[in-house]
Amino acid sequence: MSIRFDNRVAIVTGAGGGLGRAYALELARRGAKVVVNDLGGSRDGTGHSDAALKVVEEIEAAGGEAMSNGGSVTEYEQMVEMVARAKEKWGGVHILINNAGVLRDKTFVKMEPADFKFVIDVHLNGSANCAKAVWEIMREQAYGRILMTASSSGLYGNFGQANYGAAKLGLAGLTKTLYLEGAKYNIKVNTLAPTAGTRMTEDLFPKEAFDAFSPEKVAPAALYLVSEDAPTNAIIGAGAGVFQAAYVTLTQGKLLTGDELSPEGIAAHWAEITDRTGEMVPQAGGEQSMSILRKLQGQ
Ligand code: NAI
Repeated sequence: MSIRFDNRVAIVTGAGGGLGRAYALELARRGAKVVVNDLGGSRDGTGHSDAALKVVEEIEAAGGEAMSNGGSVTEYEQMVEMVARAKEKWGGVHILINNAGVLRDKTFVKMEPADFKFVIDVHLNGSANCAKAVWEIMREQAYGRILMTASSSGLYGNFGQANYGAAKLGLAGLTKTLYLEGAKYNIKVNTLAPTAGTRMTEDLFPKEAFDAFSPEKVAPAALYLVSEDAPTNAIIGAGAGVFQAAYVTLTQGKLLTGDELSPEGIAAHWAEITDRTGEMVPQAGGEQSMSILRKLQGQ
């Protein structure tokens, strides 16, 4: 059965190019009305352009429906206004893909606090701003699909990306609470960690890899994760047509008592504490406390 988005209104942030553009085009092709948001700045977040408008023109030329928005995800009021316009024109907002992003890569020793704050502000606060701007509407509709964009740099680390990595893992964290709070209202929240040849990665990929890792090969994951039958609380990796799942896990662990309840005890039992046999994937924070209680009860 084909996955369609007829009568759905989708907002894609940072959709003036790269991955966001690919998501917006494909959503529109499959029937969604799309708000193409983009500030149109350079890779480090400076400047403005009409990038969003051009993607709207592409969508319309292909027979789709779209509206452009040049607001910045860092400005909550602008996002509230963007959402209000979409609701006014199309009657609701069903899908939010938080995709806008910037880079200010530097090793931590050279990174100024301002560069740290700025990157956190665009990715993490920007995504929270947009989620907050649509949250009430999605609750009222009892329908919402939100996708956060993380990165392997956040999930696993990357030299020179302390600011970006912190923001990106923060987004996986934001997903994990919003999915719990949204469940009752049929709001599903997922995280995508893409790998694609875009201007963000153009100096990292050799030419052939750049082409093999096209944004169009990531788009199927993004679309599935905001579809009617989407899962919730998933962290999915996607690049060049390969799709993976990432998990935040917890080992069974070891109960230490008496003299062993000490740094020396930790050192002595490190192998058991970190042993991955019987590893769990908690679905909420409280499950860690429950697993501790089970351990105390000798289960
Ligand atoms: P891109 O630079 O082509 O796209 C990012 C877009 O966000 C740009 O069009 C930019 O103008 C827009 N933007 C930046 N600040 C904004 C703001 N304040 N408000 C509204 N729009 C703003 O890069 P790409 O690769 O398409 O990145 C999309 C997302 O995927 C980003 O969140 C990025 O961190 C993430 N990502 C990309 C990877 C890759 O391999 N390309 C790897 C991991 C994550």
